[in-house]
Amino acid sequence: METRKVILKETEIPRRWYNILADIKLNPPLGPDGNPVKPEDLAPVFPMNLIEQEVSAQRWIDIPEDVLSVLNIWRPTPLVRAVSLEKALGTPARIYYKNESVSPPGSHKPNTAVAQAYYNKAFGIERMTTETGAGQWGSALAFACSQYGLECKVFMVKVSFEQKPYRKSMMKAWGAMCVASPSRETKAGRDALEKDPNSPGSLGIAISEAIEAAVTDETGKTRYSLGSVLNHVMLHQTIIGLEAKKQLELLGEYPDVVIGCAGGGSNFAGIAYPFVFDKINGKEIDIFPVEPIACPTMTKAPFVYDHGDTAKYTPLLPMYSLGHTFVPPPIHAGGLRYHGMSPTVSQLVVEGIIQPKAVSQTETYESGVTFARTEGIIPAPETNHALAVAIQEAKNAKEHCQ
Ligand SMILES: Cc1ncc(COP(=O)(O)O)c(C=O)c1O
Repeated sequence: METRKVILKETEIPRRWYNILADIKLNPPLGPDGNPVKPEDLAPVFPMNLIEQEVSAQRWIDIPEDVLSVLNIWRPTPLVRAVSLEKALGTPARIYYKNESVSPPGSHKPNTAVAQAYYNKAFGIERMTTETGAGQWGSALAFACSQYGLECKVFMVKVSFEQKPYRKSMMKAWGAMCVASPSRETKAGRDALEKDPNSPGSLGIAISEAIEAAVTDETGKTRYSLGSVLNHVMLHQTIIGLEAKKQLELLGEYPDVVIGCAGGGSNFAGIAYPFVFDKINGKEIDIFPVEPIACPTMTKAPFVYDHGDTAKYTPLLPMYSLGHTFVPPPIHAGGLRYHGMSPTVSQLVVEGIIQPKAVSQTETYESGVTFARTEGIIPAPETNHALAVAIQEAKNAKEHCQ
């Protein structure tokens, strides 16, 4: 019988995150005056311990014990060989997937939510605000805040709020508040509604609302949290790839190709950056971030300085961007509808270290159904984008062997 899954012991969990800023150079974020943003400029938005992490170029960063003890609720996650999918495709390729769905909210997002809630709590913050697209990030932060006794408020993109009402129930169960965005609670939300009373919302608008709600809170004890894009978020997610590398080592395997779907980039960075580190150090490996054709950030948009949100509250970030006012079509993959892309992922594309791909909603849906009918798990619409390219690669491998 083939090995189906590799499960590490709790004691084998990686104890340090990998920081890609040690190995690539980024252009700095710019403030409204066009000058590089200073750490203290960000203090009303994020706690200083996370700002320090955002700008750190230290390659390996210790994961605090209090973070590890919460991550241990579900980590290490299994690395699974998709044996039945391989058979159905008749491919000689061996396909492995890292199953991040075993976390309490059901995605990779709590890897950073837990770390961010911990650092906020350690800095004396009492309340966190955020946005959410598909609802995965909002529920992850709601879960993390409940672990550390913090209040949590989530602005959820209206189209997803309506498509996925059960996500709101999950956030409520963890004690968070969830409102549809654009809302009437913030100036950014009211402005968006004035422009289009039927706006389906976008991550850009929801981010503006969540930042505004944090910085206008008079107690000074509220901070904003972003579930993707920023350097510290990519950092926290690298635990996925670091575990995967250990698991593959136990099998005596090393991948030819690493694939992840990319909305703001954190899921992709999580699985890929430890392998990007190897590639920078000479390994031959193909690394593909996958996005929807309907929101083609890396494959069609220019590499520019742009705001992370619609109301221009964030600094200008160097990234591929469809423009901060871009409102994507309401595709099912709510988590891949972001107009920009993480500056570190963008920089790796610019340098040719990773090669982005775009796939259609129909192909991703078909790939998800194939996976469900072979491996049994019904994947998220976002994940199906990575699966579509994994299936393309497995078919290519078959053709090469014929
Ligand atoms: C299941 C799932 N995968 C992937 C993503 C993509 O986000 P990111 O690229 O920021 O990790 C999301 C975003 O909500 C998601 O819910």
